[in-house]
Amino acid sequence: MKLDIEKIRSEFPILSKKIHNKPLVYFDNGATTQKPIQVINRISDYYKNENSNVHRGTHYLSQLATDHFENARKYIAQFIGASSQREIIFTKGATESINLVATAMSDFIFPNDEIIVTDMEHHSNMVPWQQLCIRQKAKLQHLHVQPNGSLDLNELEELISSSTKMLAIAHISNVLGTINPIKEIVSIAHKHNVPVLIDGAQAIAHMPVDVQDLDCDFYAFSAHKAYGPMGMGALYGKTEWLDRLSPYQYGGEMISSVSFKETTFNEIPYKFEAGTPDVAGVLGMEAGLRYIESHGISNIRFHEDELLDYATNKVKEIDGLRIIGESNEKTAVLSLIIEGIHPFDLGTLLDQMGVAIRTGNHCAQPLMECLSISGTLRASFGMYNTKDEVNVFVEALKKALKMLL
Ligand code: ALA
Repeated sequence: MKLDIEKIRSEFPILSKKIHNKPLVYFDNGATTQKPIQVINRISDYYKNENSNVHRGTHYLSQLATDHFENARKYIAQFIGASSQREIIFTKGATESINLVATAMSDFIFPNDEIIVTDMEHHSNMVPWQQLCIRQKAKLQHLHVQPNGSLDLNELEELISSSTKMLAIAHISNVLGTINPIKEIVSIAHKHNVPVLIDGAQAIAHMPVDVQDLDCDFYAFSAHKAYGPMGMGALYGKTEWLDRLSPYQYGGEMISSVSFKETTFNEIPYKFEAGTPDVAGVLGMEAGLRYIESHGISNIRFHEDELLDYATNKVKEIDGLRIIGESNEKTAVLSLIIEGIHPFDLGTLLDQMGVAIRTGNHCAQPLMECLSISGTLRASFGMYNTKDEVNVFVEALKKALKMLL
């Protein structure tokens, strides 16, 4: 089904703003998506009418907040196809979700063990594993990215061994837009009893995610890249892993009993949720995902694929332009470099014309090193973007190039 873009756009207050007196063309959805009124209202409604701490009170408001909070957990579990809401841990975002696992995994990683990541990881799915390797005297291995931005699974088969204890990989690259073949990758890893963590930050709002079908052991994502609030996210973990891992932080709510002699921990997911949670953030995350569901994630994928194809063909008309990331399996992200021009200069001129894109290394310095580039100009699409906006972007790009060349 086709998305009703006009209606969708009318539900995002910020999209009607003018930037530098020009209509806003927001193509920085990989960094964060804008928020529909349904999400904004849900958060403000919570503070206006429901605000109370969860799991702690006997009074009406506390019970109401707890019910909404736990119903959100159930909904989010269902949204990603988890088998139980016990497998959903609320975090500050994908970064904290990954740090949680990388910290708790310390108990299972020993000297000379190996952890595999890929060249295309965001720093948040690289540095936590690198630091774990340093702490445990283990070795960080990396799977190379191919010139077109894809991975070679034969190389994975060669790299993985009895020393491999963990594999961490992005579902979609935030720079290349590559959709990695997660199901095949998990199946290779599991043949060697290697658990797999998926960084789903760039996937959750752009394609269907079914963690049971993927069979991954952990899946991390952020709310703010899925039309929800910032500072909020979730970690999915298989029950057998979450039961085995030690808590990541200590405090209220994550305990079962406390004495000066000893502390016993709560059951999952609560043993990983120390302290008062961001209840409004959880409800906002639920509202963002419900917004996606109301339009259909497959319809969103179809629309964004169309935009990507359209934009790709249009920018190819520009002399000296190179697309970074041309995998056959790709969505929503278009990274470019133009010979002789610094992406930052282009980005600044585009901003003057109302076009918001991201420039730089996109928190993926190892990938930049592999590609021998210093950065890219990245346009990343969301469900509210249009072909007309792509036209504005391409014309603005041509105008900026005339000024700079
Ligand atoms: N990870 C976000 C991006 O790629 C911030 O822009």
